[in-house]
Amino acid sequence: MAFIEFNHVGFAYPNGFSAVEDVDFQIEKGENIAIVGQNGAGKTTTVKMMNGLLKPTSGTVIIDGKDTRNFTTAALSRKAGYVFQNPDDQIFHNTVRQEIEFGPHVLGYDKEKVKELTEYSAKLAGLSDEMEENPYNLPLSIRKFVTIASVVAMDTDIIILDEPTAGQDIRGIATLQDMIRELKQKGKTIITITHDMEFVVNNFDKVFVMAHKNLLKITNPKEVFSDSALLDESMLKRPYISELVLQLGLPKNIISRKELVDYICAPV
Ligand SMILES: Nc1ncnc2c1ncn2[C@@H]1O[C@H](COP(=O)(O)OP(=O)(O)OP(=O)(O)O)[C@@H](O)[C@H]1O
Ligand SMILES: [Mg+2]
Repeated sequence: MAFIEFNHVGFAYPNGFSAVEDVDFQIEKGENIAIVGQNGAGKTTTVKMMNGLLKPTSGTVIIDGKDTRNFTTAALSRKAGYVFQNPDDQIFHNTVRQEIEFGPHVLGYDKEKVKELTEYSAKLAGLSDEMEENPYNLPLSIRKFVTIASVVAMDTDIIILDEPTAGQDIRGIATLQDMIRELKQKGKTIITITHDMEFVVNNFDKVFVMAHKNLLKITNPKEVFSDSALLDESMLKRPYISELVLQLGLPKNIISRKELVDYICAPV
């Protein structure tokens, strides 16, 4: 049995709107996945089913052997931590420190361990100097890091990041990349929704493409960006290098800056 299993999963919101229809996939422990796709494709709805914030209205979601229908969100959030798309849906404490401490405290870690996890996550998210600030005095891009640190501090096996790249400048993206690299090394299963295709190319080997309430394809960055029909259908933008390569008529499998430089500099 895989670590995360979606078996013919559908979800309709209480108003009857069907947001996800018949999504089927498996993720192994330690895998790192980027989920991409047009606005409204059902990405957030899908990942919210991984930690029980939403329960499927058809099919089953199994997390580490547990059918989410039979467990509370509190129990499931010990396995899977979800960073909300909008940080303001998640933050409710008066200081960054309190916000980050809350998760490990609720999970029952002793005081020393809570402190250790809080400081580790804050450092990883570049927040060590902001610990006594009110999160609402910080810019949205930094508030996003507060929510990421709060989830990382819970030390769950699965970490779900919903659009961490939105509104981040170069420094924010670099911090995110460093965080993801470190969490990968610790064996975490990281699932990241993003609209930033450069970020996908630089950090993920496996890509789930969503469109029209469904999972269109499980693939990798090279395949995604050389498949024009798939890009059109899922309304994805090519990374800059990929666009340039296409316009220059170079091989389509060149998707990163390094690959382009290697190609141009290769001896003839
Ligand atoms: N609480 C809700 N009640 C009813 N419909 C909802 C609710 N939340 C989301 N939806 C609808 O469900 C569909 C899928 O939403 P979802 O947030 O999963 O998309 P998404 O792929 O994450 O999009 P985005 O890239 O814009 O974040 C959208 O049409 C959205 O309007
Ligand atoms: Mg979303």
